[in-house]
Amino acid sequence: MEIKKIMVVGAGQMGSGIAQVAAQSGLQVLLNDMKPEFIDKGMAGIAKNLGRALEKGKISADQQQAALASISPSTRLADAASVDLVIEAATENMDIKAQIFRALDEAAGPGVILATNTSSLPITEVAAFTRRPELVIGMHFMNPVPVMPLVEVIRGIATSDETYTRVRALSLAMGKTPVEVNDFPGFVSNRVLMPMINEAIYCIYEGVATAESIDQVMKLGMNHPMGPLTLADFIGLDTCLAIMEVLHEGFGDSKYRPCPLLRKMVKAGWLGRKSGKGFYDYA
Ligand code: CAA
Repeated sequence: MEIKKIMVVGAGQMGSGIAQVAAQSGLQVLLNDMKPEFIDKGMAGIAKNLGRALEKGKISADQQQAALASISPSTRLADAASVDLVIEAATENMDIKAQIFRALDEAAGPGVILATNTSSLPITEVAAFTRRPELVIGMHFMNPVPVMPLVEVIRGIATSDETYTRVRALSLAMGKTPVEVNDFPGFVSNRVLMPMINEAIYCIYEGVATAESIDQVMKLGMNHPMGPLTLADFIGLDTCLAIMEVLHEGFGDSKYRPCPLLRKMVKAGWLGRKSGKGFYDYA
């Protein structure tokens, strides 16, 4: 079955980025969220990004219009009945994923692949909410989706070779570079990235250096585009903490214990850019 039309569940930062990239690569996209205002917000972000790309001469006015026209809103998971593949990018909570995947499994036609953009929840567990575990797979895009070339393609225990091959081809068609990974806590991206961020937070906690100094060391010394604490603010400190908890619980190894300062900041509501305050002020 050729993949021509997809549904993206969740119109937040990741979901809208995925919808934009899919539309720009010629796919028809249903952008799904619970409320029309969430979809409007996602569409406004897509329109802004495409407007910027037009101004910079990276796309033509026709390409901008075509991409916008390819995305339609959806507020019902039952709309999955009309698509060839679904990418879920909703909240990182297993109970929410369970509800969504049960509903998608009910609605989607036979043979339709159900992918999840989860950054750390087990693909095998998500697949077990459906009657099609061989068709469930992780498609982990990086933020900002239109810019970052990677898609980590994660195989659950039951994911079939055919599902993997089709998702790999789709990732390439979307202009991304797929990398195959097996289903273990944090996959590769967050198993390597998050302990580095957590260690940077320990460096503040133990008074080794300020946030600015730590970021400078990693930017100027290791050529990282953003320092780890700027990146933590960008990702969201609640997300960083949740991923550290997954690694800590999943491996039962104390080397993954979240830094107490990270816990404290999340409890204070200092979540990074999205809340206006994290390691830096964004007021
Ligand atoms: N959406 C779309 N495009 C964006 C963007 C966004 N949110 N932010 C920046 N861009 C584009 C800019 O328009 C610009 O495009 P052009 O090259 O066409 O002009 C380009 O990206 C570079 O942007 P800037 O010049 O403004 O700034 P920069 O050079 O500092 O780059 C950055 C910004 C790309 C975000 C860069 O700082 C970077 O790569 N940071 C690291 C990002 C990263 O590590 N992401 C992974 C996070 S982890 C994750 O996502 C997984 C997880 O599970 C937690």
